[in-house]
Amino acid sequence: MKILTVLGARPQFIKAAPVSRELRKRHTELIVHTGQHYDKNMSDIFFDELEIPKPDFHLGVGSGNHGKQTGEMLTKIEEIILQETPDYLLVYGDTNSTLAGALAASKLHIPVIHIEAGLRSFNKHMPEEINRIMTDHVSDMLFCPTNTAVENLQNENIRERVFNVGDVMYDAVEFNRKLAEEKSTVLSDNGLTSKDYHLITVHRAENTDDSDKMRNILNAFSKIDTVKVWPIHPRTKKVIEDQGFDLESVPNLHVIEPVGYLDMLTLEQNSRKIITDSGGVQKEAYFMEVPCVTLREQTEWVETLEGGANVLVGTDLEKIVNAVEKQVTPNYLSVFGDGQASVKICEMIR
Ligand code: UD1
Ligand code: UDP
Repeated sequence: MKILTVLGARPQFIKAAPVSRELRKRHTELIVHTGQHYDKNMSDIFFDELEIPKPDFHLGVGSGNHGKQTGEMLTKIEEIILQETPDYLLVYGDTNSTLAGALAASKLHIPVIHIEAGLRSFNKHMPEEINRIMTDHVSDMLFCPTNTAVENLQNENIRERVFNVGDVMYDAVEFNRKLAEEKSTVLSDNGLTSKDYHLITVHRAENTDDSDKMRNILNAFSKIDTVKVWPIHPRTKKVIEDQGFDLESVPNLHVIEPVGYLDMLTLEQNSRKIITDSGGVQKEAYFMEVPCVTLREQTEWVETLEGGANVLVGTDLEKIVNAVEKQVTPNYLSVFGDGQASVKICEMIR
């Protein structure tokens, strides 16, 4: 089978690592990198570190408004599909690169495989929610990470070729956890001691693009004494610079450049709590059994809320501070599969 995989953003590189490894045992895979993420530490670092095969096509689309960015991808992916005539086109998650790949293929009657299908926040103000809904509705094989995702699709009358295989991000964590322990020096490099710091990530447009929300978040961080380490997403860095927010005045805050995956796993595993608005990081907190405080009003990963492992606080200053400082003893369940999602996906494609 000839499969054309479309990737573009950081979490997609991480998801592709275990899947590509399996896919290539049985199928021919060509990778298209849209160029949505392009900084070395948002893209190349993951290809190198996780040994993801080098892209066969690089579209160099870069940043831009949704329409321009998605439209440019659509045009260029269409050309590649016409040239390569793949049997399937494969996309991950919910970014603009996902939507562009899925749309281009479905219009040309190339069956679409969607990995991480069926997620819903039920908030259509999120660009990701639009991307997910559209992609799921034009997909031909839908690989869901959880039962909730399967149910979400059933509720939208998508019932055929829907499979709960578990979460490929769990596969990635299981594969790399030990490697991270052996290789990463991120704690000593940054003078951090295990369980003596909180890890922060913030990048959701709904937070970064609202200066009141960002101000609340930063004010909350100022009220938390514990050391905080924050590998900052370029989107957030830009907003903070443009808005003139003063990070220097936040005590015990170490802002660092985005880190590679092995360093990130190490930072997560050793943190006391994780404060984030990232989808992937919420799940990794759960996999590593580190309590999570989520700077959003909804989550697609509702399983993480049960048992108190993750708590939604939005951007309310008091809620953030209280949740971070509260002692919790969460209960963790095995709801994201068995670390073999990629193997199952490749079997089913076959
Ligand atoms: C995108 C996805 C989001 C995902 C996130 C993962 C969409 C609509 N959003 O959001 O779902 O959670 O990736 O990280 O697809 N930038 C750089 N260098 C880069 C990449 C981005 O400087 O390598 C800056 C640019 O100023 C750019 C901004 O970040 O305008 C936003 O990048 P973009 O890819 O549009 O969205 P993300 O916020 O990264
Ligand atoms: N990640 C990373 N380095 C960082 C921040 C995140 O390797 O500095 C990884 C993280 O471990 C997870 C993925 O990136 O696997 C999550 O991506 P992101 O938060 O950008 O997007 P989302 O999951 O919210 O779509």
